[in-house]
Amino acid sequence: MRGDNDQLASFWMPFTANRSYKAHPRQLVSASGMYYRSSDGRTILDGTAGLWCSNAGHCRPEIAEAIANAAATLDFAPTFQLGHPLPFELAQRVAALMPEGLDRIFFTNSGSESVDTALKIALAIQRAKGQGTRTRLIGRERGYHGTGFGGISVGGLVNNRRAFGGGLPGVDHLRHTHDIERNAFTRGFPQHGAELADDLQRLVDLHGAETIAAVIVEPMAGSTGVLVPPVGYLQRLREICDRHGIILIFDEVITAFGRVGAATAAEAWGVTPDIITMAKGLTNAAVPMGAVAVKRELHDAVIDSVPGGIELFHGYTYSGHPLASAAGLATLDLYAREGLFDRANDLAAYWEDAAHSLKGRRHVIDIRTIGLVAGIELEPRAGAPTARAMELFHACFDNGLLVRATGDIIALSPPLIVEKAQIDEMFGKLAELIETID
Ligand SMILES: Cc1ncc(COP(=O)(O)O)c(C=O)c1O
Repeated sequence: MRGDNDQLASFWMPFTANRSYKAHPRQLVSASGMYYRSSDGRTILDGTAGLWCSNAGHCRPEIAEAIANAAATLDFAPTFQLGHPLPFELAQRVAALMPEGLDRIFFTNSGSESVDTALKIALAIQRAKGQGTRTRLIGRERGYHGTGFGGISVGGLVNNRRAFGGGLPGVDHLRHTHDIERNAFTRGFPQHGAELADDLQRLVDLHGAETIAAVIVEPMAGSTGVLVPPVGYLQRLREICDRHGIILIFDEVITAFGRVGAATAAEAWGVTPDIITMAKGLTNAAVPMGAVAVKRELHDAVIDSVPGGIELFHGYTYSGHPLASAAGLATLDLYAREGLFDRANDLAAYWEDAAHSLKGRRHVIDIRTIGLVAGIELEPRAGAPTARAMELFHACFDNGLLVRATGDIIALSPPLIVEKAQIDEMFGKLAELIETID
């Protein structure tokens, strides 16, 4: 007979301090709407839509039913050289939500796979267009693009990179746009920093445009602590890409499906990339699924470059999986029926005021907001960076609120069904608990 703790031993938890978690486990056992329930029977208000993903709230019956029906009707069918109806239908529906022209959709199973797929597609596009010398990929410091080798190579988080070797060759990075000195406590887009987009021009001057395939950025960097793009920054990146034939990829794994008040940040902020990566909100996270939207003419360039046979040697056993596709269709129906993207937009000003009410609280050195997202940056504790936010995260959880700690930043991104009273509760609790942390 093994002890209790052994029940926790086998699961090597992702992005978790396994030893400390297993010494003090906190578990969620069910969920409904805006709330989780913990294993000790408490109700936890979800301030993070799970992990930026349950945008329509939890356990929506319409999605559960669609998944159950799919599982009972066609549990699996290959999409290599065969098909089944659901992913075709879903691709059309996703395409209709994308900015004009990005209407060719490749399905994956996660954000990481979407990123690696997008990078590979960008390379294939350049090659198909006779630009085969363009193999260099550009990312950005503090970028998070998942955990595949492509994603960590273009990503800009040292902890995600240092243990895993050299990464992809021929990768370079723009500087990040985080600048508290000039932009602290900005509501929406920060005023300062558009010129940082000119880093791309510097890299063109350094490497030669004819070596650069693509640049990938999160329109708003979420996982590294809610870094909102400076006014004009994304536009400037777009211009430089156009000037030099570089493919612009927006990683919208977090921002797609309503988070910033429209189907995509590209649409909300009026900058159209060539490729968009998605995941998370696509299925309300009820079944893992990701997608990559590609401009039609770039897709056509790849298809037309091959005289016959398979055009892109890439894909996953579960690309367009029936359960995920069914979940995606039911999710998109829910978003449309309940007008959740508009709802996020309508609530954004209230959300912003509530978040910025924490200004002046102990340890708070910056607050950033956009759409239904907030980042609250705490002064790092001397000699123990990240400890303060982690303690606050635990205090919140123990007091019935789920937030996310990333570095010394608390990030919030509730389901888009959140009510004003719940927004008040989130920031009220945070205001109270922040005072209890040293
Ligand atoms: C912008 C971005 N890209 C990629 C990913 C990776 O997604 P996944 O964890 O589904 O692989 C994430 C996850 O948070 C993300 O925020």
